[in-house]
Amino acid sequence: MKILVLNGSPRPKGATADMVDAFSSGASDAGHQVAVIPVARKNIHGCLACEYCHNQGQGRCVQQDDMKAIYPEILSADMAVFASPIYYFTLSAQLQAVIHRTYAIDIPGNVKKTALILSSGDKYVYGPAIAQYYQSIVEYWGVENAGIFTANGEQNKSQEKRDELYRFGKSL
Ligand SMILES: Cc1cc2nc3c(=O)[nH]c(=O)nc-3n(C[C@H](O)[C@H](O)[C@H](O)COP(=O)(O)O)c2cc1C
Repeated sequence: MKILVLNGSPRPKGATADMVDAFSSGASDAGHQVAVIPVARKNIHGCLACEYCHNQGQGRCVQQDDMKAIYPEILSADMAVFASPIYYFTLSAQLQAVIHRTYAIDIPGNVKKTALILSSGDKYVYGPAIAQYYQSIVEYWGVENAGIFTANGEQNKSQEKRDELYRFGKSL
């Protein structure tokens, strides 16, 4: 299976990346092809709502930014994993921009399952991010939710969380 991980944290060695690394190791050890894209380090703008993609572009976005290289990755993935730090109770703006920009391609038909990986400072802060993930990804795309993983406070960068994420990747 081709697995695409979209990491919305701007911190390359942060807590989200730590969970993503453990997940990727497990999934790779299980024989899957894993690609991780650190989207917060890319030049990706918000949707302009110009409707070029739907009117003239035949699914191509008018904006010539780094999203151009991400569209084919999303369209060819069997599984998409959304990873993000919690910022003000929801996903990072950088990951949110990527999700909004899928407006051009609508539902990526090859994706069959998804997962969500979240890191935060506090406990009990995941409601809005999980609600968005369920409504705009799992239900809208019509895919299987393979799992939701969170780490807060001292759980961040812990061996316990690494093991949990590794096991999840390995189980796929
Ligand atoms: C702009 C900003 C907003 C944040 N908002 C929240 C929040 O609402 N709730 C929370 O528990 N932590 C919040 N945090 C803390 C991060 O979620 C936390 O430090 C996380 O582990 C960072 O992950 P990273 O190391 O992958 O970047 C915020 C951090 C930043 C920079």
